[in-house]
Amino acid sequence: MDSEVLFTVTRECLDTGLRGYPVGYCTTSYVHPHLGLFYVGRPISELAYKEAEEVIYLLYYGKEGSKSEIEQFKNELVKRAHVDSRVLEQIRLLPRVGQPMKLFAASLLIEGMLEGVGDYREDCLNLIARAPTLVACLINHHAGWGEGPKSRPELGYIENFVAQLALPGGVNKDLATAMKIFNILHYDHGGGNLSTFVGKAVASGLEDMHGSMSAAMSALAGHRHGRANQDCLEFVEKVLQELGENATAGQVENLLREKLAKGDLIYGFGHAVLRVEDPRAAIFYDLAVKKYEAAPIVKIALLLRLVGPKVLAENPKIHDIHPNVDAISSVVLKAAGFDYPHYFAVLFGMARVVGISRQIVYERLEARGGKGTPIVRPKYLYAGDETVSG
Ligand code: MLT
Repeated sequence: MDSEVLFTVTRECLDTGLRGYPVGYCTTSYVHPHLGLFYVGRPISELAYKEAEEVIYLLYYGKEGSKSEIEQFKNELVKRAHVDSRVLEQIRLLPRVGQPMKLFAASLLIEGMLEGVGDYREDCLNLIARAPTLVACLINHHAGWGEGPKSRPELGYIENFVAQLALPGGVNKDLATAMKIFNILHYDHGGGNLSTFVGKAVASGLEDMHGSMSAAMSALAGHRHGRANQDCLEFVEKVLQELGENATAGQVENLLREKLAKGDLIYGFGHAVLRVEDPRAAIFYDLAVKKYEAAPIVKIALLLRLVGPKVLAENPKIHDIHPNVDAISSVVLKAAGFDYPHYFAVLFGMARVVGISRQIVYERLEARGGKGTPIVRPKYLYAGDETVSG
């Protein structure tokens, strides 16, 4: 390995959440500030409408699968998809209070205690295969919808997930399409997003896959990460309530200015890495226009897309601010018939299990010529006594 200088750490870099500071390699995906997300070199726009299993194969093996390889992989996931009934029973005993992400983190620990095999590669594939059943079980339980239909993995990865949801009004076909796109677009987002970083950091201490993933899901639960989609939907709903479905672009503009003047937050814009509109958002906007343009919530989301960047750019301190994926992903889920924002972070987390578990496999078993990365141990400068700090 060469000793080329990649980044210079200055004092301004400290206490900034390691923002942009290179710490390792990621073999699954890459986020380009202007071009957006790539899975194994393929732009996300080319993958959004594929089968979930094809995209998981791409991320897992780092190459596209042939038709027969994908068929084999689908069978592999079907074989691994069965979740022991003791796991499901324990999930159904969890308290039904609080944020559902807590149940997700707990479910992963339970699955690990009862079914973990202690091998990162095996547990990675098992967890990917079982995530839809674990998540459907915890959502049904938390929502009080009963046990829900039994798992039928042969339906397909996302098809089986949607079929296991005991939604009070039933499930429509459009929902499976929206869920599939949502799932694929959220599998991975480079190596440094908080949940992925935390999952890998915990695994670096040689915690097993399930414990590491549970920690990753706790990291994903916060408002600045996985819960942002729920917050965005609430924001769009509030704009709809305040202006009505016949709002004009001018009215939305004025409302945003009023909110900014009051110091209120505007949700759904900006990203840690992206300096353009998130291409994942563009995919959801297209879907929204094609299928749900008449829905009042979609009309408002489209107006926000139109005027939001312009209003925000009136602040000279704000640059390159554009809609992120959360601005529209949650709106599409609602328009498609899943009007349960409480569970949006869990859906994000279920998808991210794919990328996080694969990145943990890389760091534990493949990095540094197979030796794996050492335990994460950055340096903090002591700031309690100026004579010894620095
Ligand atoms: C995302 O999907 O946008 C993220 O996980 C947030 C990030 O990339 O930091």
